[in-house]
Amino acid sequence: MSLAKILVVDDELSMREMLSNFLKNEGYRVLAVDNGEEAVARVRDEEPQVVLLDMKMAGMDGIETLAQIRELNKDTSIIIITAYGTMGNVVEAMKLGIYDYITKPFDVEKLKRLIERALKAQRLSKQVPSLQQKLEEKYRLENIVGKNPQMFEVYKRIGKVVDNKATVLVTGETGTGKELVARAIHFNGLLKERPFVVVDCASLPQDILESELFGHEKGAFTGAIAKKLGKFEIAHGGTLFLDEVGNLTLAIQAKLLRVLQEKQIQRVGGTKPIKINVRIIAATHRDLEKAVKENSFREDLYYRLNVVLIPLPALRRRKDDIPLLVEHFLRQYRSESKGKIKYVPPETMNLLMNYSWPGNVRELENIIERAVVMGKESTILPEDLPSEISEASYISYPDLTAGKTFLKQRVVNLERKLIIEALEKTGWVQTKAAKLLGISRRIIRYKMQKYGIEKPS
Ligand SMILES: Nc1ncnc2c1ncn2[C@@H]1O[C@H](COP(=O)(O)OP(=O)(O)OP(=O)(O)O)[C@@H](O)[C@H]1O
Ligand SMILES: [Mg+2]
Repeated sequence: MSLAKILVVDDELSMREMLSNFLKNEGYRVLAVDNGEEAVARVRDEEPQVVLLDMKMAGMDGIETLAQIRELNKDTSIIIITAYGTMGNVVEAMKLGIYDYITKPFDVEKLKRLIERALKAQRLSKQVPSLQQKLEEKYRLENIVGKNPQMFEVYKRIGKVVDNKATVLVTGETGTGKELVARAIHFNGLLKERPFVVVDCASLPQDILESELFGHEKGAFTGAIAKKLGKFEIAHGGTLFLDEVGNLTLAIQAKLLRVLQEKQIQRVGGTKPIKINVRIIAATHRDLEKAVKENSFREDLYYRLNVVLIPLPALRRRKDDIPLLVEHFLRQYRSESKGKIKYVPPETMNLLMNYSWPGNVRELENIIERAVVMGKESTILPEDLPSEISEASYISYPDLTAGKTFLKQRVVNLERKLIIEALEKTGWVQTKAAKLLGISRRIIRYKMQKYGIEKPS
């Protein structure tokens, strides 16, 4: 969403300047003209969302201007400014379709609220309902899958912040769902109709990042051929998601801290402060506390971001959720593959349970998607999984935090691993390996057969 554009129409210079400055400070884009003809032209060319129209002007008067603007543009919200005692005009204006009126002298704060309400009404009427619904649907809290106690703690913390604008810090390894949680907070909360704007602090060179965040004025540096709004301004009234905030350089950290403290920004190359009102959700895979100790992250910024902390557990620390997640992604991709797949047999599930998931939920999601798309059968077989999963599972140590129902499988895996180790150490001489393990030759033979262990050729 871009910033709202407001057209100020008043033949009095001091009024135009006062209104323009005030509205610019509020973060709006402002156009100002001193007569009706010019106003009509600007409405046609620039399509402002709101027009502030003085009723008493020399030349083409307010009512005539209003009628022509309405003719051109049915969507723009017109707020008329009248002198006290000219209510007759207001009634006429109402008939032509204005949003509201305000009488001089007026309180700018009141005007500001009026504009905000007009813009909100526009957004609500303009929203394609299906798109908004889709977003809300997609990020419904029910779509965050997991019933491990650590996930309940996550839900509890999300619940604490959906209905307010507290700053949130989401931490967790790659693929644990940081962005998912950030979006869920936004789309289930107060600000869900306002913009959700993402800045990836890791992917951009830091000098570009600064103008990405704060915008820049025309000519601020070589290549700044036009004024550019920063993400802070674009997110005004909504949520700004600072992804990988741990990757910011100390210089930008200092600037960000100041912005958060003063709640205003300055575009690069600009001199005027611009007020901003955004909810901040930051995310990082880095251990910020450690970064603070190592002096690569500012302590004061850390405390400002870490108002409500939502740490996301690694998938290997909540393996009991794997079957649920598999079912969730199967359902998701099943509908995309027109119901072709699928069932996950226990052999495959065991492999999934034993893998350590360095890429966490994203890795699991990708694997299910691939298996659904590539698999020819209606079941996902072990050979539909990437080799690192089918192979790594046998050499991974049991993870004691995982569900106890899989103890048997884990013991089997460990046993298999130990037998292979013993055989390798003894050059595949079965009697020696058996001795190492404290079992008989007959038993090692039996187990080798059972687990399909063969001397590599
Ligand atoms: N608990 C969960 N339930 C359902 N889906 C999840 C869950 N956690 C993550 N996902 C899915 O996994 C994928 C990765 O999640 P997301 O992008 O939020 O992770 P991230 O922590 O931001 O990763 P990165 O650090 O790589 O940016 C997304 O498709 C997301 O929908
Ligand atoms: Mg992410």
